[in-house]
Amino acid sequence: MRRDLDGWLEASGAEADLQTLLKATAGACAKIAGLVRAGELAGVLGSAGTGNVQGEVQKTLDVLANDVMLEMAQGCGVLAGAASEEEDEPVWFAGREGARYLMLFDPLDGSSNIDVNVSIGTIVSVLETPEGATSGVAPFLQMGRTQKAAAYAVYGPQTQLIVTVGKGVTGFTLDPESGKWLETQPAMKIPEATKEFSINMSNMRHWEGPVMLYIRDCLAGKEGPRGKDYNMRWVAAMVADVHRILSRGGVFMYPKDARDPNKPGKLRLMYEGNPMSLLVEQAGGAAFNGMTDILDVEPTELHQRVAVMMGSKEEVEVLRKAHTERAEASSSG
Ligand code: F6P
Repeated sequence: MRRDLDGWLEASGAEADLQTLLKATAGACAKIAGLVRAGELAGVLGSAGTGNVQGEVQKTLDVLANDVMLEMAQGCGVLAGAASEEEDEPVWFAGREGARYLMLFDPLDGSSNIDVNVSIGTIVSVLETPEGATSGVAPFLQMGRTQKAAAYAVYGPQTQLIVTVGKGVTGFTLDPESGKWLETQPAMKIPEATKEFSINMSNMRHWEGPVMLYIRDCLAGKEGPRGKDYNMRWVAAMVADVHRILSRGGVFMYPKDARDPNKPGKLRLMYEGNPMSLLVEQAGGAAFNGMTDILDVEPTELHQRVAVMMGSKEEVEVLRKAHTERAEASSSG
C-alpha cells in the first residue's frame, strides 16, 4: 500500500505546525487542480481584466488560485502572514500574531499556458516568523537557505505535489479516486550529468556572454567542446520545466538579459527562485544566479527578480565557471 501525504509527514519528523501547513497547502492545491481541470466548463479561463504589481495581465485563474491560497493561509491557523505574487503587499492575519510560520507563494505559475491547456503549477516557500514580527515586508526578506520547507504542485497529465522539509525531496500524485495525495516518487534525485537544456532561445540576442557561450557549446553537439548532442525543452512554466529536471535531469535557465537593464532576470526570487532552488539542491542539483547560489542571495524586495540557472550539477558548474572567468577577466582589465 502506498503511503499518503499525512503518513509521510508524520514519518518525516517535521514539526507539528509545519505538518498542518503542508496538509492545508496540499488541500488548496487539490482545489486549484479541480478548477484547472474544469477549465472552460467552470468559466475559469481568459483574462480577469486586472493587472498585478509586476504589471502583468492577470488571468481569471491567477485570481481564483490566489483566493484559494489566501483562504487556506488564513484558515490553517499556523501562519502569521502570507505574501503572494498577485498581492502588492504581504497579508498579516488578525488573531494569528505569534504563529510560527510565514508563507510566500506563486498561486499559478506559467500563466501563459492556462488558456492553451498546457502544464501550470503552484509554488510555495515556508519561512519561520521572526520573533515578535507582526507586520510589514521585512520579516519575509529572509535568505532562501533559511526556508523551512518548499513545495510545488504541477497541474499536468497527472496532478503532483513535490515537497521538501530539508531532508530530500518526495513526490505525491493526487489520486482521482480517493482525492488523497499518494507517495509516488520517494527520494527524487537529479542526475549529475545531462544532455538537455531548457531556455527561451528567442531571447538569445539579449543574453550576457557566459550564457551565450554555454549555449553555443551545447549547440555544437558531439563535435563541439562538450562532446555530446544536446536536446532542448521549453514548456514556458517554470514548475513544469523544473519538474522535468527533477524527474530526469537537465538544466533550466532564465538568465539576466539586456531587455531591461534594471531587472536582474524575469523570475521572482522569493516565491519562484528560492523554493525551486531548495528543491533542486535537496535533490542533489545546484542553483546559481550568475554570481552566487540562489539560496545565498540576500533579498531586498518582496517582488525582486533573479537570474536563474538550475538543475544537473555538471551543467550548473560549467555555467558557474564561465561566469567566474568573465568576472575575473573584467576585473583584471
Ligand atoms: O513566472 C514566469 C514564467 O511564466 C515562468 O513560469 C516561465 O518559466 C517563464 O515565465 C516563461 O517565460 P517566457 O514567456 O519568456 O517563455
